[in-house]
Formats: sequence, structure tokens, C-alpha cells
Amino acid sequence: MYGLVNQAIQGLVIDNHGEEAWGRIKARAGVEEEAFLSNTIYDDSVTYSLAGAAAEELGVSLSDVLIGFGKYWVLRVGKEKYGALMMAGGSTFGEFLINLPNFHSRVMLIYTDITPPEFKVEETGEGAYLLHYYSTRPGLTPFMQGLLEGLSELYGAQSQIRCTGSRADGLDHDIFEIALV
Ligand code: HEM
Repeated sequence: MYGLVNQAIQGLVIDNHGEEAWGRIKARAGVEEEAFLSNTIYDDSVTYSLAGAAAEELGVSLSDVLIGFGKYWVLRVGKEKYGALMMAGGSTFGEFLINLPNFHSRVMLIYTDITPPEFKVEETGEGAYLLHYYSTRPGLTPFMQGLLEGLSELYGAQSQIRCTGSRADGLDHDIFEIALV
């Protein structure tokens, strides 16, 4: 994945636990780079190792690391570094969800070689959505949960977000049910 993803993990750890914790996590993950370049593609194993090492070092589950990372991605990275891009996604949480399937095509104007996730979104009723998340990468369901929780918070929405089917259950993709309350 592009280095900005690893940079964001670094930001999340340093903001919440300090530079020393980041140093320990990097060492545990066997990462030798002094710093990540946002526009360089690193092997996905670097990102997975960092997330796993963060969970071990901080004594939390990998799932909690990924949920926290998803929220941080939207509420800090998205909001502060890609404000215009995020705003173009919609003026409400519901609108953002409807537009989500096209989101990474705009990201690809900046980061041309990403392997993006794919989304299908259905509006199933008033303020009710089913989001289908297709990925070539394993294990990112909790990251997606965190991203959606972050988006809900970003738009000041009250919502219930539940993963109702996943690749862990044998499906070929993950399904999230989102209800604005
Ligand atoms: C300004 C905001 C965003 C930027 C710049 C961005 C950019 C990226 C980049 C660079 C990657 C790594 C892909 C690669 O390097 O091959 C990625 C992955 C991903 N993004 Fe975004 N993204 C943004 C917002 C979002 C939002 C709002 C969502 C969903 C609600 C999302 C969902 C994901 C997921 C799930 C992945 C993991 C890739 C996979 O499943 O294969 N992103 N994004």
C-alpha cells in the first residue's frame, strides 16, 4: 500500500502513545525504514506487521487497532489532509455512503496505482443502508467498521453500524448494515 497508510499508523501511535512506543512497534514489526514516503508503494506485509506489532505492544486486539485506525483515518488524516476530497464525498453521512463507490476513483487522481476497495451501496429504507465491501486484501473488516464509525462522527450523525456478513463466515465480501437513528 502507499506509504501514506503506514504514515497514518505512525501518526495514530505517536499521537496516542508517544515516539518511544512507535520506536518499539517499528522494531517489533522488523521495519527498518526511518520514515515512510507517502507516494511510495510498500509491500502490504509492512502495514500488516505494523498493525500486528501495535496490538502486541499496546496489549489490545488487532481488531481494536484496526477500528481505531479507521476512525483516525477519517477524523484526522481525511479531515486534516484531504479536506476538499472528503467534502466532495457528500454533505451528509447518507450522501457520503451513496457516493462511496466512486470515492477511490478520485483518490486515484492523486495516487494513481492504488489497488482500491470496491463498494456497492443500497438504500433499503429511510436512513437505512446496506454496504457491500469487496477487497483483494484479507482481514480489514474491522478497519472498515472504524472508517464508517469515523464518518458517522465526522458528519455528526447518530447511527448503528453492524457487520452482518463477512468473508470470515465464508462470503466473498463483507456486508455492513447502517441505520441512522
Ligand atoms: C481522503 C480520503 C481517503 C484517501 C486519500 C484514501 C486512500 C487510500 C489508499 C492510498 C489506500 C491504500 C490502497 C493501496 O495503496 O493500494 C486505501 C485503502 C482503503 N480505503 Fe481509502 N482513502 C480515503 C478514504 C476512504 C474512505 C472514506 C473509505 C471507506 C469508508 C476508505 C476505505 C478504504 C479501505 C477499506 C481500504 C483498504 C483496501 C482494501 O480493502 O484492499 N477509504 N485508501
